[in-house]
Amino acid sequence: MKALVLAGGTGSRLRPFSHSMPKQLIPIANKPVLAHCLESLAAVGVHDVGVIVGDRGDEIQASAGDGSAYGLRLTYLRQDRPRGLAHCVRIARPFLGNDDFVMYLGDNMLVGGIGSLAEEFHRTRPAAQVTVTKVTDPREYGVAEVDADGRVTALVEKPLHPRSDLAVIGVYFFTPEIHSAVRRIAPSPRGELEITDAIALLVAEGRPVNAGRFEGYWKDTGRIEDVLDCNRELLSAITTRVDGFVDAASELIGEVVIEPGARVTRSRIVGPVMIAAGSVIDDSRLGPYTTVGRNCQLRGAGVEQSIVLDSVAVTQVRGIYGSVLGRGARVRNAPADGLRRRLVLGDDTEVEIAA
Ligand code: TTP
Repeated sequence: MKALVLAGGTGSRLRPFSHSMPKQLIPIANKPVLAHCLESLAAVGVHDVGVIVGDRGDEIQASAGDGSAYGLRLTYLRQDRPRGLAHCVRIARPFLGNDDFVMYLGDNMLVGGIGSLAEEFHRTRPAAQVTVTKVTDPREYGVAEVDADGRVTALVEKPLHPRSDLAVIGVYFFTPEIHSAVRRIAPSPRGELEITDAIALLVAEGRPVNAGRFEGYWKDTGRIEDVLDCNRELLSAITTRVDGFVDAASELIGEVVIEPGARVTRSRIVGPVMIAAGSVIDDSRLGPYTTVGRNCQLRGAGVEQSIVLDSVAVTQVRGIYGSVLGRGARVRNAPADGLRRRLVLGDDTEVEIAA
């Protein structure tokens, strides 16, 4: 079985981060979402992976390389602009040939992997197998109606009156039958070739389409709240590993990962917390549920339930909570000047200030 990973798209919901990095590279537990996805694929024995990339293909390629770090062989496939998930399948046809394949949306996180889903597909080998999970508000999702045998009877995009609470999530298993379906669909009202339409065509033609249930934690990391939530979920499973320097005046509580070359002095770290290589934490309070990327300088900082990307500096500011600080961001204390505040904010940034 081959794999097709979708790592193009616009990422408009993940601004401002998606202005400067492809959304698939946003770190969850200090590792790009895409890396988690590639690890899941390697774990089910896939070797050949096509990676759909858009304008930011160079950055994706710089991060994932030739795939050998994951035991994979990656082939990059360029999409001129985001024309829909089924368009990705169309342009990947020469790469996919007549092999079965798993299509994995590069911004989806399925914690615990896709082993049982892959096993079910190999065992039953329907024309297609979508992955579904129970959600509280199905109106926001593509929804699958499924019979008692796990067979999909209908697929409805964002239904006003859902007849099922099973949302279709970002891992699909296909036999080559999907190729004729993606050739025969037309763009949707939003102008994209929808994979839902192609699968619905197979269902309408009586071809077997099954639903594989995913019972673990799933997130589409399309929005900042989802990224933070996912980070918390992954952090809750870490175990302590201290390879960096921690002085005697510091206190580590709970599960804390400190990478080689990181330095923690005069600080209190309440896990789960991860601190990446080269970062300096001094006179600070960190955690819980916080990741700090590489080469950050946190001095006199208080950061909790947050994601701090690489090369961030926080100086004498406490009470940072539920936040994401982008690469190279600087947050510092300044002497009070009445009610005046100086802000240098990138496009589409969001700041909450206590009045
Ligand atoms: P989406 O989250 O549906 O699309 P998007 O990246 O455009 O996000 P937003 O709505 O915030 O603008 O895409 C799911 C995944 O598939 C994601 O990893 C991007 C990728 N993708 C492609 O590679 N090509 C495409 O044509 C589309 C639509 C998505």
